[in-house]
Amino acid sequence: MSTFQPVRGMRDILAEDAQVLNYVIAKARETAGLYGFKEVITPVVEPFELLSLKSGDEIRQRMFIFDDLGGRKVSLRPEFTASIARLVTTALRNEPKPFRVFSVGSVYRYDEPQRGRYREFWQANFELMGSSNPEADAEIILLANSLLKTAGLEGYAIKLGHVGVLKGIMSQEGIDDKTQNAILQKMDKKEYEAALALVASEKCRNVIHGLIELNGTSPFDTVQKMQKQVQDYEKATASVENLAAILKLVVESECEIQAVDPAFARGLEYYTGMIFELYVPQLEIALGGGGRYDRLIEAFGGEPTPAVGMAAGLDRIALAMQVQEIQLKTPQQKRVAVISIKDEQKGEALKIAQMLRHSGIWVEFEVMGRKMTKALEDADKRRVHYAVIIGERELKESKVVVKDLAKRTQTQVEIARLAEKIKS
Ligand code: HAM
Repeated sequence: MSTFQPVRGMRDILAEDAQVLNYVIAKARETAGLYGFKEVITPVVEPFELLSLKSGDEIRQRMFIFDDLGGRKVSLRPEFTASIARLVTTALRNEPKPFRVFSVGSVYRYDEPQRGRYREFWQANFELMGSSNPEADAEIILLANSLLKTAGLEGYAIKLGHVGVLKGIMSQEGIDDKTQNAILQKMDKKEYEAALALVASEKCRNVIHGLIELNGTSPFDTVQKMQKQVQDYEKATASVENLAAILKLVVESECEIQAVDPAFARGLEYYTGMIFELYVPQLEIALGGGGRYDRLIEAFGGEPTPAVGMAAGLDRIALAMQVQEIQLKTPQQKRVAVISIKDEQKGEALKIAQMLRHSGIWVEFEVMGRKMTKALEDADKRRVHYAVIIGERELKESKVVVKDLAKRTQTQVEIARLAEKIKS
């Protein structure tokens, strides 16, 4: 019989990669704490309706959808935002605003598998709800910046935009929501010609084309030029002002914004305001993204609640760390192999292993019944720091033999001082 492989697009994350991923998860959790976000855990399976209502075609077409045995149409979550918005209309309904919610876990999208693009991947998700002020947007951008910084990434860039600009122009020109969304989806994929082909009014086409072509010498210059480009459009003008206010706050707090993209759109449909994405020069794919979505909670039957958030793609951050050869800053754990020479001392050896574990030392107990030379060879291969050898003769004097596998030295150590000796 042939062996089983993971389903296409799914991965086994082996020890070394799992260590990096867990490191990034720890950094995300640490960042959540620093910005006052409380962690919640939501289900992987959610009602299809909830996940699809405002996410847009791009995500909807990539969802893992099935009927459960009770006949409910459900889906694996492709992101966290809908689940958190659901919470705001239910369990968190009476929470005082603002609230800040953090989640981490796997999400699922039927994307075409390639480097950095998987069908099961990990997100750290942050939502700040209850404020429509630019400082809330700024906080989310600063948080994203902190996360990449604490992961040790270098040369990363933040791209900033505002969907309110394009939406403002299109609404004033009487373009319906459905067409607006179709245009924005094409803009997201940089299919500008196809996007413009959907715009009936020539004036509107020219203004949007102008935004696509707009080139500023700096983010502030770009914003100024956007202002001129949209001056006949009231809501778009307000959106550019909002973008300018957010940009100013972020830059004043000494976080660099590399680019403002006037024609920037994102795949998700629920955005209403500022949007952003994060990149490193070595990878073309975004390491994270987010933005403001002020009407989602209302659409789910809740009180109108302004909200802004972001999700970091943890697999991609881990990949970027590997590409940039970033060393994990985790304290080196002392690892020990405990081996008894003869069967008669196995009980005593287990007792010593337990004693070491109680004092925080990681122990791999010899369970294969191998001869000493083989067991030591194996410990060496596993890059264990010390082998603790339990022999009858030494036990009589309450001692064991400790072999330093790197230095290739060996000494006798009193059992009472063993943990202390290994830790030093
Ligand atoms: P998103 O841009 O769809 O936003 O996803 C966020 C991040 O997830 C991406 O920037 C990327 O790093 C990662 N990602 C997306 N697809 C894949 C994939 N197939 N394989 C690996 N990584 C991937 C959202 O999900 C929004 N919910 C963010 C948000 C929160 N907006 C407001 N609040």
